[in-house]
Amino acid sequence: MTKINRTIEIAIVGLGQVGIYLYNELNIKKNEIEKKTGKKIRIVAISAKNKNKKRRFNISKKIFYTDPFKIFKNRRIDILFECIGLSDGISKKIVETALRNKINVITPNKALIAKHGDHLAKLAEKNKVNLEFEASVGGGIPILRTIKEGLATNRINKVYGILNGTTNYILSEMENNNETFEKVLQKAQKLGYAEPGNPKLDLNGFDAFAKIRILSALSFNTKISKANCIMEGIENIKLEDIKIASQLGLRVKLLGISQIISGQLFETVHPCLVSKNTYIGNVNGVMNAVITEGNPVGESILQGEGAGPGPTSSSLLSDLLSILRGNIKYPFGISSIKRKSIKSFNNDHYANSLYLRFQVKDKQGVLSLITNRLAKYKISVKRIIQTPDKKNKKATIVIITHKTTEINAKNCLSVFRKNHKILKFLTLIRLYN
Ligand code: HSE
Repeated sequence: MTKINRTIEIAIVGLGQVGIYLYNELNIKKNEIEKKTGKKIRIVAISAKNKNKKRRFNISKKIFYTDPFKIFKNRRIDILFECIGLSDGISKKIVETALRNKINVITPNKALIAKHGDHLAKLAEKNKVNLEFEASVGGGIPILRTIKEGLATNRINKVYGILNGTTNYILSEMENNNETFEKVLQKAQKLGYAEPGNPKLDLNGFDAFAKIRILSALSFNTKISKANCIMEGIENIKLEDIKIASQLGLRVKLLGISQIISGQLFETVHPCLVSKNTYIGNVNGVMNAVITEGNPVGESILQGEGAGPGPTSSSLLSDLLSILRGNIKYPFGISSIKRKSIKSFNNDHYANSLYLRFQVKDKQGVLSLITNRLAKYKISVKRIIQTPDKKNKKATIVIITHKTTEINAKNCLSVFRKNHKILKFLTLIRLYN
């Protein structure tokens, strides 16, 4: 930030769970911020749709704007926090307007950065202001600054982990308390973990995928990818799968994975079965963990609370201090001109062991129907468990396969969805290699 000796004037746009928590934190931590940066701050504008909504902390109505664009006309702002959270629309317009007006922007909005980060970074660079988004990935975990600064000269070839607090919390609570998906989701919403207004974005993998795109761009110094890789959420994971997995010493985790394979970018988000004895298998509840593999540093792990207004505000304030202390930085660590586009790896060649759960008629020949089909596609069975349901003349068959590729599994398994002896082909979960 260019040297300013006067008080730094701040605007917050969006007063949902995160915005209001941030507002309170900034007020509480004013003196500490001054002690650490030598700069005085003052919130001079706040904006949300509804001025009179009941909020967790009291707001000053004197600085309230129902139309956030009026802030630009009426006030001189140095730093604007965008806390609305949309990938487009008003969120994008606010950020663009701020950057064009040479206002530094801080946002936790991963949907916006994953979609428009390249364009917004260019705009920030052109206007010589900062665009910071530490809170967009991993909640309170300082992973972006770690990649940009702490690991700056490493060659990173893989970054992966648990990137969504809501889904990790849901999976853990289901396993620990035998609770249904719906019940745990309600608790996650109350705790402020789920995305504002639309928990679907957490459940279907979209939120974690946006974070993976941002991590890839920073780790590999590339443009944000636009490719359609595998994006699956946890909506089809049932309590039964979690229990069966547990008996097998496994745990379901929604993993985001990004790596460079033969010079191509491979990004995925999908549920994985991981051993309970692994590090990642023990990252539970709202915790996120991001693992980077770099040269020469080796493997580094950062773990922390990945969702909720407290951890998110921690990262937002870290961005604020970075701006108050330093010069203007490239939003993605290097200049936009130097970030290259990268080709995507073909998903068809992605290979994993698979967990397959079927519900079948308990009749002769059904099991061999399944195993013969697998054999035809050279998919080898590693483990098989059949649990009869005598009363209904049905059985549950769970098969763990050896490794096979996506395309082979797809071609082999599609037939089961139509076969009347296989009542239901219920679940496919990849095992993490
Ligand atoms: N909804 C997100 C999550 C919040 O559950 O991880 C932080 O991005």
